[in-house]
This record gives sequence, C-alpha cells and structure tokens, in this order.
Amino acid sequence: MKVLLIGGGGREHALGWKIVQSPLVRELISAPGNPGLAALGRCIPVSAEDVPALVSLAVSEQPDLVVVGPEVALADGLADQLGKHQIAVFGPSQAAAQLESSKAFTKEFCARHAIPTARHRTVQGMADAEEFLRTLHPPFVLKADGLAAGKGVVIAQSLGEALTAAKDMLQGQFGAASQTLVIEEFMHGVEASFFALSDGNAVLPLIAAQDHKRAFDGDLGPNTGGMGAFSPVSHFDDAMANRVMDEIIIPTVAAMGEEGHPFVGVLFAGLMIDENGPKLIEYNVRFGDPECQVLMMRLHSDLVPLLLACAKGTLSKVPQPVWDKRACATIIMAAKGYPGAYEKGFPLGLPEPELANAEVQIFQAGTALDEAGHLVSSGGRVLAVTALASTVQEAAKAAYGGIEHIEFKNSFYRRDIGVKV
Ligand code: AMP
Ligand code: GLY
Repeated sequence: MKVLLIGGGGREHALGWKIVQSPLVRELISAPGNPGLAALGRCIPVSAEDVPALVSLAVSEQPDLVVVGPEVALADGLADQLGKHQIAVFGPSQAAAQLESSKAFTKEFCARHAIPTARHRTVQGMADAEEFLRTLHPPFVLKADGLAAGKGVVIAQSLGEALTAAKDMLQGQFGAASQTLVIEEFMHGVEASFFALSDGNAVLPLIAAQDHKRAFDGDLGPNTGGMGAFSPVSHFDDAMANRVMDEIIIPTVAAMGEEGHPFVGVLFAGLMIDENGPKLIEYNVRFGDPECQVLMMRLHSDLVPLLLACAKGTLSKVPQPVWDKRACATIIMAAKGYPGAYEKGFPLGLPEPELANAEVQIFQAGTALDEAGHLVSSGGRVLAVTALASTVQEAAKAAYGGIEHIEFKNSFYRRDIGVKV
C-alpha cells in the first residue's frame, strides 16, 4: 500500500513512524512532512491547509489511503473532495468535522441527543451574553464558536471580566471564529482525553491520555497546544471507558449518522469527570498532539488496518487493538517564548538513532533543515521526547533522561509531566 499522510507536526511524525511499521505499507508520502518524516519516506512541500493542492497531489499520487493529521483541511472539506475522486481517506467530511469546527453546532447537537455536557447558550450579541452570564456562577467559560488554534477559550473569574471578554471576542478578537460565542457553566472535576475510531457506523474504543495544556510547571502560564501527555490515566479505568462509550461516544456516532453526517475518523473527546460521571468538554475530529505520540507508542497492533477499515466502512470486522501494558509519557521541548513570540532556527543536536533505544523515541514537530542541511527549530513546539516504561512516573523519567542527550539552546520544557499521578 501507498499511504499519503497530511501534516508535519509531532503527531504526524508519530503516525508516520507507526504506519511504516505495517507490513502492508510499501510507501509513505507526507505533505508537507518534516525532517523526521523525511527519514521515513518522501515529503512533498504542500501545505496541510491547502485543500485544492492536497487534492491535486492525491489525484496524481493515487495513494491507497490518505491519513489526515490536523483539522483545518477537514473543516474545509478535504475528505469530501477526496471522496469525489474515489480516494480512501481517514478523516471526517466537512459536515461531520463541525463537531470540532463549530462549538455551537456541538453544543446544540449534545442538547438534541441528551449527551452530557455543560449547560450553555450560543450568543451573537452583548445583550444575550449578559443575560445568560447573569444566570451563572463564576468562573465563567466563554468560547469562540470557530477554530482558533486552541486559543479560543476564556475562563473569566468575575462577571466584569466575563463581560469584557465577551465584548472583545464578539468584536473580533479571534476574527470570524468569535462572531458567535458559546457561553457555558464551569464544570469541576478532573480532565481526560479519550479516543475512539469510527467508520460512520461501527465504533472502536482506543484508550485515554492526559494532556498538560499550560506552558509552565504546576499548570501555570498561558494555554498551549499541549506541553506533554501520558497514558494510562489513573482516574480513567475500563469502567469509565465503558461509560464514556455508552453515554457519549456511541450516541454521538449514531446521531451523526441519523442526521446525515456519518462520522469517519478518530473522535477525540475532551472530558470532565466528577462524582456524577463523565461530561463532554469538547470534541476534536483528529488525534491530539501530543496525545497521539503516546497512543502510537502504546499501540501494539498494526495501525494501518484500523485506519483503512474506518475509511472503507469495515470497522466492525476489525479485532480490538492490543495495547502495550507499559505506560508512556511524552515531554514537549518548546522554543523559549512559546506560545507567545519565539525565534526559529536554533540548531538541534539529536542522539544518533543507534544510540536511541526502542523505549525512547524523539518525534519531531517544529523542525526543518537549514541551507547547510543542519537540523534547526522551525516552530514553537519543536520535539516530543516520548518513552515507555512500567509506570507513568518511570516513563516520564525515561523521557526526561532522553532530553539530556538533546542539544537545543533556548528551549524550555515542563519538568512535572506525569508527576502528579
Ligand atoms: P477546550 O478548548 O474546549 O478544550 O477548552 C480548553 C480548556 O478549558 C479545557 O481543557 C478545560 O480545562 C477548560 N474548559 C473548557 N470548558 C470548560 C467548562 N465548561 N468547565 C470547566 N473548564 C472548561
Ligand atoms: N493536545 C490537545 C490537542 O491536540 O488539541
């Protein structure tokens, strides 16, 4: 098989790493890829957000499967376009991708189908926003309706702060994405991310992981795309996975089908868990980054038949995947300044592959080659140092051990990933 992988971050390096281990795969092509993926196959400099160019690429390469990493092209209809060319794709249609691309869509959908989530109101003006905010207790949660690269959520501690945030957002703080707002009640509890695959009908549970969204130790500092992750999650056992499947994931996939938007791909549920059980915070229609790195390291089964079965509608025939019993942790090495302004082009020294062992993998995220062919940083999140070991703490220790062998001046990373468990 020939597989075309869309994206070029740490998530995609981990997906590519796992895809090329499949005996079914003869060739991996990445668009745009990164130097880590270039070691696994051809990289073609087409942006992961340029739908027409991606469609042309797929039409000329004729892959047996397209795997889409990030959400933007899905929200813009990449899967629909590939479908018109009879190209198998792992990823949802534009309509099904609304589960991520419109928070208002998802909240109304949950209300229609009694899927547990925070009470909310969708608003487009200050009068409505204020009226609903006055019915809530602090803290207040305000979300841009559209895609905002993980930055569109504001948690305000006072009514005054909430009103100011609502005004800023409605006036275009996140562009068109925040012309509509979702305001919702604050949920208390512990968070976890849970992943499941679907072919539009059948649903196959994967596992849970926990992300660390804040930039600095102790969950301080600004929100980021994720500074580290680990799995398994101690407060998320098999019984909880079954509840999340029965109360949230299966009803969602069934109702998306009934409403005419069958969901194909991976459903990533951000969950808040308290004594009453799990509630949905939000859906994403793709793997998490860096949660994916942890999932790929723990997945013992071949990934490719799973992705292909989603694309071909044959997921019910696929056996449950087998997972490594060991725990996994990943630590993000980021450029100083991230998620704010940061510089690019810092030289990176990685250990020779023969020194790295199978328990520690360095997935490249924001990396590039400079004119002389040296590996340099090219983004905010640069490397995901990922390790397997008997417990989450041991896995984190092994990943931190891996960092010692990496040269990357002007980097920072959290030192408390997996420590709280
Ligand atoms: P989201 O982008 O929707 O995942 O939100 C980002 C983060 O904001 C989540 O991971 C939660 O920590 C927090 N959050 C979002 N919605 C709520 C809510 N209704 N109650 C409490 N925390 C929330
Ligand atoms: N790590 C969170 C995300 O991928 O959205």
